[in-house]
Amino acid sequence: MVHKKLHDWYAKNGRKDLPWRNTNDPYHIYISEVMLQQTQVKTVLERYYFQFLEKFPSLEVLSHADLDEVLKMWEGLGYYTRAKNLHKTAQITQPKLPETYEALLELPGIGKNTASAICAFAYKQNLAVMEANVKRILCRIHVLKNPKEEALRELALKMLDCENPYDYNQAIMDIGATICKVKNPICDECPFSLICKAYKEKNFLYPEKKRKIVPTREVNIVVRHHNKKLYLKQRKGRFLHGLWGFEEVDEVSVDAEFLTDVEQKYTHFKLEAKVYVLHVEDHQDLYLSLDKIDQVALSGVDKKILAYFLTDNRV
Ligand code: ADE
Repeated sequence: MVHKKLHDWYAKNGRKDLPWRNTNDPYHIYISEVMLQQTQVKTVLERYYFQFLEKFPSLEVLSHADLDEVLKMWEGLGYYTRAKNLHKTAQITQPKLPETYEALLELPGIGKNTASAICAFAYKQNLAVMEANVKRILCRIHVLKNPKEEALRELALKMLDCENPYDYNQAIMDIGATICKVKNPICDECPFSLICKAYKEKNFLYPEKKRKIVPTREVNIVVRHHNKKLYLKQRKGRFLHGLWGFEEVDEVSVDAEFLTDVEQKYTHFKLEAKVYVLHVEDHQDLYLSLDKIDQVALSGVDKKILAYFLTDNRV
């Protein structure tokens, strides 16, 4: 009964024109799933999915690319480990991704959710997809405040329509995105309303919101420039590894001028940067022209700084 309602809803309202729903190519589906892990459909569609596939049309092409090129195509999407893992997985598996859940799980960056999605969408297997929207639906149907991931996975599998897992999975994601929204869910239109305990209770605060207190990191950043060239370094440490950025300093030179404050939120901390500009008399190799800067991948915070610097007409 619920499955029939769900499929009827999907036939009428589903986002069936999404490009990754109109391909059987496991590589295309894999790329879409990794991009969609932490990013909204709209952003992926407008700025990343087609561009990435145009540059790297196959797993094989991706495997031969420089990591710098991959990071450049990922610039602005955040969570850059995703791009590095795509690159590693391409090198391990090209020309073809494996076709089982277990084999996919062995690969860098492919966890249970991504492996399930690839199997369900590329290989039409009976696996339940569990991204954030689906988890919220499951928690509301079963009034779960703080469930364990594995418990949710079992529930998701129990609810799966094994006759048509592909449409079922796409539909439940669409319901999460458009009906069972965090705020103001549209329950009157929801195919799950008959079985939804949260709907009966008229209380939608499931799952419980976890208040995350993240520490703030305060830093000073200096934009050194000389003759229309700026000093940038490629990061070596774990954080934003491989991306280019301006220099962080402990002590700011007295000759530096304050440019702006910049903030950026990351998963584990908030960055608050005071940004200074310093004109230097001579420069070495690490000073990049604006054209060159355009070709390398900058982190979000460095992009903001560059934009301030350029609108301030400092070059
Ligand atoms: N998020 C993750 N996978 C998705 C898909 N196939 N369609 C829409 N949103 C998604």
